[in-house]
Amino acid sequence: MPAAAPTRVERAFLSKAQFLISTSSKVAFHILGCRAVLPAMNSNLGSVANDAHVQSMLNKYHLSTRGACNYAYRDVWGPREKSMGDPWSPANPAGTVILRLAENSLMHKEVGEFLRAQMNVSPVEHLTYSTGPRGSRRLRRAAAAFLTERFHSQKHTTYHNILVTPGLASAIDGITFAICNEGDGILIPQPLYNGFKVDILNRSNVRVVGVKYEGIEGFTGLDDLFLPDVNKVALETALRQAKDEGINIRALLVSNPHNPLGRCYPPETLREFASFCGKNDLHFISDEIYAFSVFPNPKIPKPTPFTSILALNLHGVIDPARMHILYGASKDFCANGLRMGFVCTNNEGIMGAMSSIGIFSWSPHVLQDAWAAMMEDKQWVERFMTQKRDLMVDRYKMITAFLSKHGIPYYEMNAGLFVWVDLRHLLVSKSSAQQSDYSAVRVTSPDAPVNLQRELRIAEICVKNGVMIAPGHVYLPEEHGWFRITFTVGKEALEEGLNRFLASIKEIEAESQDRI
Ligand SMILES: Cc1ncc(COP(=O)(O)O)c(C=O)c1O
Repeated sequence: MPAAAPTRVERAFLSKAQFLISTSSKVAFHILGCRAVLPAMNSNLGSVANDAHVQSMLNKYHLSTRGACNYAYRDVWGPREKSMGDPWSPANPAGTVILRLAENSLMHKEVGEFLRAQMNVSPVEHLTYSTGPRGSRRLRRAAAAFLTERFHSQKHTTYHNILVTPGLASAIDGITFAICNEGDGILIPQPLYNGFKVDILNRSNVRVVGVKYEGIEGFTGLDDLFLPDVNKVALETALRQAKDEGINIRALLVSNPHNPLGRCYPPETLREFASFCGKNDLHFISDEIYAFSVFPNPKIPKPTPFTSILALNLHGVIDPARMHILYGASKDFCANGLRMGFVCTNNEGIMGAMSSIGIFSWSPHVLQDAWAAMMEDKQWVERFMTQKRDLMVDRYKMITAFLSKHGIPYYEMNAGLFVWVDLRHLLVSKSSAQQSDYSAVRVTSPDAPVNLQRELRIAEICVKNGVMIAPGHVYLPEEHGWFRITFTVGKEALEEGLNRFLASIKEIEAESQDRI
């Protein structure tokens, strides 16, 4: 296959990657959690096979090209292991406060207790291959009932529509592998959940094609990213540009509620997504992993509640075989480590394609049935979700009161586990910040490489001070200077993390005294 010309996204990353590599590469790699960016975004292995670093890994470790590329550029987790293995606690004051990952530890005790009490080993079902890699019948039935009832599904979902995966990352990988060929693209509105890049690229070599909003009529700020008309134009523009660049787009993938923005899409926008996919023969994949991580925020007077695409009547809008819902235990059930997720689809071909490789990685049925027991216990779920929501409100108040007290702006949200914090003022001149002129922080600005460096520097200082936060650029926003900070952790950890964050900001401000 001839090497494809880099896409717009890749070109943007190329400039970043070249910049990273030519400046503080070690720091950048550490903060990004992987070694570099460009080949990680490039879906065409042919074009990275000649990369000197890939070649040297290939020769040194006797790897395949794809193995060498993944090792050289796409191993997000390996480099993070050390800091993740040393989390802060009152008993470990020298540990790192991890506010970078989308984890909700507020109800860990309750989940642990439930699992201990419900764990029940049935040899016939749990110590055999049982019903195989599509998942335990019990969990699939419980999941179907959960979706029908709690997602207000228009149609009756049965266990035949559910395929269980070890976490949602695995579901995204599996569905990508099932519907895309190498080099194809999936449209995702920007900013986007950074894990989508990993899930879509690392095995399938499929491209993330970001949907951009800057310059789209009606777009003036983050709120507009949820409007149907703005999305309609942005999607059409992105699809046209992808076609011009020779990319075969196969699907639209959205996160609803949105990661990293923490808001829900209204039904009109979801309908627009479905209609766009229907008209263009694309799959519509709706990742609804934060469906029950929505909470009241009095600062948003008319919040958009969560609506699942299952609740919409999309008859005649999109072929039901092209619509897929993803859900998992990681966020709403506070159990990232359980590795539990599922795809809900009417498409038997996708079920078969995913099940054909499901034997390589399935979560044990004994654990699947433990999650099923949770979902089946409606009273427990009700109590759990209410208690969790109250704790989320408390921590959200805590983080936003802290940010406000110290004059740090942020985007108000009412869903998800994190706050999108605005540090753009630390990237521009003092006079620009005073006039709220942030045109220079756009990723298309000539200052982009310098702004990226500053963003990395802020994250680096935070790490040095013992708190990990996520620099915005990993989510591909259209501006530099944003950071994602998780608030769903214990009170003491949040307090400690925020104090370390503030100390880091002061350090950055002292470093940039000379800015005029
Ligand atoms: C939108 C979204 N989808 C999927 C995932 C992956 O979740 P899992 O832990 O189930 O793999 C995450 C995790 O942060 C997420 O934010």
